[in-house]
Amino acid sequence: MAHSLFLLPGDGIGTEIMAEVEKIIAWLNSQGETDFTLDTGLAGGAAYDAHGVAISEEDMQKALAADAVIFGAVGGPKWDNVPYEHRPEAALLRLRKELGVFANLRPAICYPALADASSLKRELVEGLDILIVRELTGGVYFGEPKQIIDLGNGQKRAIDTQVYETYEIDRIARVAFDLARTRKNKVHSADKKNVMKSGVFWDEVVRSVGKEYPDVQLNHILADNAAMQLVRNPKQFDVMVTDNLFGDILSDVAAMLTGSLGMLPSASLGAPDPVSGKRKAFYEPVHGSAPDIAGKGIANPIAMVASFAMALRYSFGMIELANRVEAAISAVLADGLRTGDIAQDNRRTVGTEEMGAAILGKLKA
Ligand code: NAD
Ligand code: IPM
Ligand code: MN
Repeated sequence: MAHSLFLLPGDGIGTEIMAEVEKIIAWLNSQGETDFTLDTGLAGGAAYDAHGVAISEEDMQKALAADAVIFGAVGGPKWDNVPYEHRPEAALLRLRKELGVFANLRPAICYPALADASSLKRELVEGLDILIVRELTGGVYFGEPKQIIDLGNGQKRAIDTQVYETYEIDRIARVAFDLARTRKNKVHSADKKNVMKSGVFWDEVVRSVGKEYPDVQLNHILADNAAMQLVRNPKQFDVMVTDNLFGDILSDVAAMLTGSLGMLPSASLGAPDPVSGKRKAFYEPVHGSAPDIAGKGIANPIAMVASFAMALRYSFGMIELANRVEAAISAVLADGLRTGDIAQDNRRTVGTEEMGAAILGKLKA
């Protein structure tokens, strides 16, 4: 049976890196290895320019109907002054919320060839394999009220609201514990329970879920300390579970351990449908639209290609093929190919297309 992919390249380097994934999909389809049907839509600034909104209703429906959504990146200075509700990032937030993809898996893996490309010393990152499990559809990103109020005395008040309910913490904790069981049976839960009521509650719910997983070691860590420990001694972590905002920040920190933000993929998964068992799923790199390098053809496509590999693994059960895509990435890095963000002395610096072609070349080999 054909599987449907809905591609939303977005803005900036989003379109450049998505093109490389499209070439890989076209080749896999041509070989009969996959049977993907593709459709492409507009998201972010691109959609705003075409339709005056961050994502059209039509594309939203296509995203909801697809077996998996593959997303590039959105945003850029061109849209700095569009109305807040139509800013490019609104597309991403709406997609995550309406798809219900609450579980955002952000693996930070240091490929062997990149152990010297990190800003940390080789011994700190060599063999690194961390999985950040970020809650994606709740917390301060979505809590109400969310507004700026004019107090009428020349002062204004800005409010964002951090809200979590039991079921939201419970289900993300279960994802983290279940994944820990397939890894090193160790979870660190990060919050700010020393300052925030929602942190106290987060910890309470995670601990209670943890009782059902006596075989998994649960450690509590304050989120600020977690950021510091990620840089001091990252290999102490295996699975980290945290809320939407802390997960955003900690995953950018973790990205640099792998050499570049351009290396980090992600999968965002919803709850299994009670009838079909299928999960809504959304795959995107952790990085943004990189306006500083957009249009130059030099972006690193690896996070995007690795996000597609996560789709093969998590949405389609094509584990062997996912492993092959990841092995192809590892192999081009071992050959010494580097995009600018992971450039190293004596290695060949290539652009987006050449990197994409090299990965495809390894797959073909
Ligand atoms: P960014 O992730 O776009 O870029 C941060 C830095 O990392 C830049 O120097 C950039 O050149 C570099 N970088 C990122 N990805 C790279 C890649 N694949 N190859 C090489 N270098 C790469 O973050 P930013 O500059 O803070 O944000 C730019 C825009 O992107 C903003 O509008 C922001 O809201 C948006 N954003 C979107 C997403 C998303 O769509 N998922 C994620 C983060 C930021
Ligand atoms: C990410 C991004 C998004 C987030 C923005 C663009 C809305 O930074 O996916 O990490 O904050 O979740
Ligand atoms: Mn982010």
